[in-house]
Amino acid sequence: MNTTEDTDVLAGKEPQGDNAIERVLVLEMVRVTEAAAVAAAQLVGRGDEKAADAAAVAAMRRAFDSLFMDGTVVIGEGERDEAPMLYIGEKVGGAPGKGPKIDIALDPLEGTTITAKAGPNALAVLAAAEEGCLLNAPDVYMDKLAVGPGLPDDIIDLAKSPSENVRAVAKAKGVEPALINVCVLDRPRHADLIAELRDLGCGVILIGDGDVAGVIAVTDQETTIDMYMGQGGAPEGVLAAAALRCVGGQFNGRLVFRNEDEKARARKWGIEDLDRIYKLEDLASGDCIFAATGVTDGSLLEGVKRKRKPTGELIMTTESVVMRASSGTVRWIKGEHRVE
Ligand code: FBP
Repeated sequence: MNTTEDTDVLAGKEPQGDNAIERVLVLEMVRVTEAAAVAAAQLVGRGDEKAADAAAVAAMRRAFDSLFMDGTVVIGEGERDEAPMLYIGEKVGGAPGKGPKIDIALDPLEGTTITAKAGPNALAVLAAAEEGCLLNAPDVYMDKLAVGPGLPDDIIDLAKSPSENVRAVAKAKGVEPALINVCVLDRPRHADLIAELRDLGCGVILIGDGDVAGVIAVTDQETTIDMYMGQGGAPEGVLAAAALRCVGGQFNGRLVFRNEDEKARARKWGIEDLDRIYKLEDLASGDCIFAATGVTDGSLLEGVKRKRKPTGELIMTTESVVMRASSGTVRWIKGEHRVE
């Protein structure tokens, strides 16, 4: 049975009521991440990070045009003078001034190096929320600490040491710290963190890139990852937080500044307390949507595959996930796309 909102959408009118963001956008967002993933997939393993990123950006930019929304990029490819498309502040969507006002955080290709080298866990990803609900995170590092759902509130605290956090999570799970698996980006800056975790006997799962998937992995029991720790991009932190808002889990993030210029950029985006520890709701509040399509195979999603159907037709297959915070609905979507 169609609701009034369904009818409005079918008639191309703006739907009314609390469900506006969902009715118009939840499933539609997948078209956008699919387009970016299919475009980037043509360049998997070609050793050209920039070309893969550019292909994903252009495809995502085009796909936004078909969405009935008045969107604004709040986390994107950089500032206006740095990025030709999908820059921070750019308007996206096919209904400027008419559609719902939506803020978008996006990464058309999360894992440019992964894609260039055909490694695991490259994603096309975005988060969407009502205006003002996503942190305008500057492109600096963020210290990240995350656990999955089902643990006591405030079990993690970035103000405490990695060992204290591991012990707290182990106690809540009723296991020894040595049984806790922690995912960490494999970077020299994490040498002390990795040594501390190994002293506790923890399993340290090192990933080469792609900490959006790394953080989300804590929510999936099949990954056996209990915690995520370490510094990665702040924009990726907001994207991962939006996903955890939808599926549960806890997250602490603190911006890391390497110089005065980075501090000045944060202040420009309205961030006054530079030492603040952000929790999920501080990064992505209100109702929000998270959508991702796999570019290469990974813990969250299968990558894009080229296949020939029994009819002889050549297709690209995609796997995507789209989730919504207010309902907690998670939809897994398999797509088949004709190769023109
Ligand atoms: P790109 O897609 O921009 O290459 O980012 C990949 C990534 O691994 C992110 O997932 C992560 O947050 C960030 O880079 C870490 O930055 P760095 O490579 O400087 O350690």
